Amino acid sequence: MSYQVGVFVGSLSKVSINRRLAKALLRLSSGGNLKLREIPIGNLPLYNHDFDADYPPEGLAFKKAIAAVDALIFVTPEYNRSVPGALKNAIDWGSRPWGQNSFAHKPSAVIGTSPGKIGTAVGQQHLRSILSFVNSPELAQPEAYIQFTEGLINEDGEITDQNTAAFVADWLEKFEEFVCKVVSVNPK
Ligand code: FNR
Repeated sequence: MSYQVGVFVGSLSKVSINRRLAKALLRLSSGGNLKLREIPIGNLPLYNHDFDADYPPEGLAFKKAIAAVDALIFVTPEYNRSVPGALKNAIDWGSRPWGQNSFAHKPSAVIGTSPGKIGTAVGQQHLRSILSFVNSPELAQPEAYIQFTEGLINEDGEITDQNTAAFVADWLEKFEEFVCKVVSVNPK
């Protein structure tokens, strides 16, 4: 059974190392049962609840993109020990209007990289807290904190270190098993 997976990249930077990690996930999953594609977040205006009465096309398209997938992967840096504002904004868009939360029962996983030794661990805990609130079942283990060193992932998304590549491939396998279980309980 194959699953459509939406990927959010929490960084809007053109030289994002998390985008490299997202590309690595695409490479490693290629040919397998997880069909990954990015759901862009950079075009969304700043959310406020005045939009709820009449969602703009960007907001509607974003919610439609989430509805079209079976599962979600968040690939994100940590900003000031939390979630980048752009990603939080996107989650706010997806969670509303009230009663139309796009994340409910949609399985998710969180992964991220930073040059720091704890590799986005604190930001991920904040993200997990948000995902719990929006009722998205999350892959609990394995956690994936990747310390980025120069050249670890190249611009094409190739992971140059074998142990890291094996770890990320295993993480994807565990996520597939998790998605399979959640989807069998909550079919779309
Ligand atoms: C950072 N960075 C950072 N790193 C970290 O490990 N913990 C943190 O809390 C922060 N905070 C932070 C805030 C802001 C505003 C910036 C711009 C950066 C450093 C960050 O990990 C590094 O810039 C990464 O390259 C960001 O990931 P992307 O954007 O390259 O994917």
